[in-house]
Amino acid sequence: MTRFSKAGFVLSTAGSAIGLGGIWGFPYLVGQNGGFAFVLVFVLAFLFFGVSVFIVEMLFGKSSGQNSVSTFESFAPKSLKFLKYGGFMVISGVLIFAFYVVVLGWLVHYMFLSIIGMPKTLEATQSLWGGFVSSQILWQMLWHLLVVALCAYVLNRGVKAGIEKLNLILMPLLLFIFLGLLVYSMLQDSFMESFKFLFSPNFEKITPEVIIRAIGQAFFSLSLGVGVILTYSNSMPKHGNFVRFAIIIALLNFLFCLVAGLVIFTFIFGYGAEPTEGVGLVFISLPLIFANMGVSGQVIAFLFFISLIFAGITSAVSMLEPLNSYLIERFSMQRYKANLISVISAYLLGIIALLSNTTAFSAPLTFFDKNLFDWLVYLTSSFMLPLAGVFMCLYMGWILPKERVYAMLEGNLAGISFRIWYFVIRFIAPLGILAAMINLI
Ligand code: TRP
Repeated sequence: MTRFSKAGFVLSTAGSAIGLGGIWGFPYLVGQNGGFAFVLVFVLAFLFFGVSVFIVEMLFGKSSGQNSVSTFESFAPKSLKFLKYGGFMVISGVLIFAFYVVVLGWLVHYMFLSIIGMPKTLEATQSLWGGFVSSQILWQMLWHLLVVALCAYVLNRGVKAGIEKLNLILMPLLLFIFLGLLVYSMLQDSFMESFKFLFSPNFEKITPEVIIRAIGQAFFSLSLGVGVILTYSNSMPKHGNFVRFAIIIALLNFLFCLVAGLVIFTFIFGYGAEPTEGVGLVFISLPLIFANMGVSGQVIAFLFFISLIFAGITSAVSMLEPLNSYLIERFSMQRYKANLISVISAYLLGIIALLSNTTAFSAPLTFFDKNLFDWLVYLTSSFMLPLAGVFMCLYMGWILPKERVYAMLEGNLAGISFRIWYFVIRFIAPLGILAAMINLI
């Protein structure tokens, strides 16, 4: 088997984790949930829940050396046969890919718009965005196809020559652009305000709601519950402390979220916009601010969109790998065939999701007040991912014998840290994730 190099593994896994969910979702959740309070709870949720469940998923993948479906089958005891269906989670990857890549297509469109020039008034920016999503079907389909084709190409080349290589190029570039944006923000007057918003203690704003949202966000942001971490861990370098990998990846992810927050709030505060902005943040508020900044705004807008695209592409390619690896191993399929199946299904579903946002097609593609696009987001992030997380924790914490789990850890987690981790995955993580899930419903 071709394995990742150490840097390749860390960057590819971080590449999967660092994506639109963190860079875009984190700032607006911070905005809506009281600044520092959310940041603090988020970092704890990240290090505590995130890293613990991350280790569970890694451990399953590393010790089985097989795709997600076979992994859960191979660990299932005879008396608990249903456990072997844990591999259902590979489907989530296809469902997430379907809508995620549509968003990437929008970002490509906006990247080009940022070069051509964008409107300078709120009304015009809003109607540009509304008009684009609801009626510019061809443009959306074109960018969507482009992004899907790029992902297909990378996945076709396999783990080492495709996924690892893409991440070794894009992740350092992303870091570089982020540092540039951070330095620029630090030179602005509103940077201090942004910094204070994220770091001045306001413990009274920590409510159960904030805690639960932070857990959900940490979970989504670390790409857990799809089998991506599991599948990548099949090809983890043989030597190396994987607990340390998990911590490095979580910290890298947190750092990117934080820088994204600092940069975005610098612009938001500098131009008197509202920090509580939701989805409109990336396609309305920020473009409007950039458009009113003159030439420097154009450069920043371009860098901003391209960094979101880089972060998103490295996440998107990871989503289909669990299904690919299942098809390849189980049916002895050649990679290109497996890839064709997963890419085409995700592509077609994506087209339907894309159409469900448009005026012309929304009626037949809307069920119970939600269109297909929103259903995909909702079902995956609020049900399938958290359920899979709870499943994996309970499986490893309650079904597998403790000695076996301990041996699987190969000494990378021992003594008191083992006991804490084991307690977290048996009790705290499943309960916390369930609470987050119920809240999201
Ligand atoms: N972590 C990704 C992000 O923040 C989103 C994501 C959630 C994901 N689950 C995933 C990516 C599974 C890849 C695989 O944008």
